[in-house]
Amino acid sequence: MTVYAHIVGWGKYIPENIVTNDDIAQFMDTSDGWIKSRTGISERRFVSDDETTASIAIKAAQEALDRARIVPSAVDLVIVATLSPEYIFPSTASLVQDAIGAVHAGAYDLSAACAGFIYALSMGSAMIQSGSAKVVLVIGAETVSRFLDREDRTTFPLFGDGAGALVLQASTVPGGILSTVLGSDGSGAEHLGIYGGGSRHPTSHDTVNERLHYMRMNGREVYRFATRVMGRVAKQACERAAISLDEIDLFIPHQANIRIIQSASKYLKISDEKVFTNLDKYGNTSTASIPIALCEAIEQERIQAHDKLVMVGFGGGLTWGASVIEWGVVIPHKPREWWYRSWRWLVYRWARVRSFTIRQWRRMENWLPTKNGNGHYPSSENGTGPAKEIHHGNGAKPKPIEVEPELPLFGPAETEEMVLEREHHHNGK
Ligand code: ACO
Repeated sequence: MTVYAHIVGWGKYIPENIVTNDDIAQFMDTSDGWIKSRTGISERRFVSDDETTASIAIKAAQEALDRARIVPSAVDLVIVATLSPEYIFPSTASLVQDAIGAVHAGAYDLSAACAGFIYALSMGSAMIQSGSAKVVLVIGAETVSRFLDREDRTTFPLFGDGAGALVLQASTVPGGILSTVLGSDGSGAEHLGIYGGGSRHPTSHDTVNERLHYMRMNGREVYRFATRVMGRVAKQACERAAISLDEIDLFIPHQANIRIIQSASKYLKISDEKVFTNLDKYGNTSTASIPIALCEAIEQERIQAHDKLVMVGFGGGLTWGASVIEWGVVIPHKPREWWYRSWRWLVYRWARVRSFTIRQWRRMENWLPTKNGNGHYPSSENGTGPAKEIHHGNGAKPKPIEVEPELPLFGPAETEEMVLEREHHHNGK
């Protein structure tokens, strides 16, 4: 039986704080005219001081799950594509998983710069198609503004913050993610990236003085690469999905530069009304740009059931990717009833209480007395619990087997003496 990965929920979060081109021109040698004519961007949104990549990803994820009417505990996997994670590690995805109460989900971040969302979509749909997951939450979330250099006019005006999320669900109904194509050319790694704070340039006074903690870009190289790759990869994805370019109902490209988008649409011979753009309002929100654009296309009722959508991303790495989707959900989508929204509110409150309680418990465990020194409570005299028995079924006496003391999941780390004592106990038998 063939399993298909359908998009059944979508959500976005756009920060409130609007930064116009004129705002930027006040502290940088640039102008509204230059930015608009070279990029198509009029304004972008920046997060406020108390917002982070995880906090905005959580909002988008909750909206997507609510739309899908799927409880967080049914999610099998959370993937967050981002180039501006909360930390190097732990992953932003783990923070999202905890905050929304996706208690049965695995979680990881995916790093493929602005193509990251297409990569995450591809991973999520492959997990579903292979039968390893039934529900996958795919998120693109960015606080790029935290990594922009206010002294660099070649990057600062181009980017914005935001988050978008999709819920993928397994179904036997044909459709959903029909194909994905991914690509990379690491020989272009030097043209776009944040080069400080990693193992090549660990954070030091020097890296900060050299401003290596900010994004750097060779705009002309990236432009050339993007115009070359975007149309081509979209075409490959259509071929893989066995659809012709004429069948594309909506083209949702990564929102980096209107001239790059126009060049790709020209290559694909797609008319303007079939191309979705919103970069004039948000700038380049990196991994969040495609899911935010999809959400807005749905809001504007530009997508109907069985429409064929083509999404294309490109970015640092260099990386690129495209996906063809046959839309499966009827639009307009019914708004959620008040009681449903209240119940969901309770579900997320409960997730917070649960997370808080686990944190407190973990703290308390450090203070609790432990009898056998390995951090868990002994259930028998020697602290290993009763020996398990094997029944041979031939009337012979059951043979006891020794069970290793269970290692604690949480609690104090074992000291060297504890390890020796445990080994002595084991070997002495
Ligand atoms: N304001 C005014 N002048 C500027 C600015 C600015 N903000 N930025 C650059 N200039 C100047 C340059 O210094 C240059 O001056 P010069 O001729 O005296 O040297 C002149 O404008 C032209 O510069 P170009 O780089 O040739 O300008 P171009 O037309 O290529 O546009 C841009 C620059 C918009 C950055 C373009 O190259 C571009 O869009 N590149 C792709 C960027 C992109 O898509 N990045 C996102 C990738 S996704 C990801 O992974 C994050």
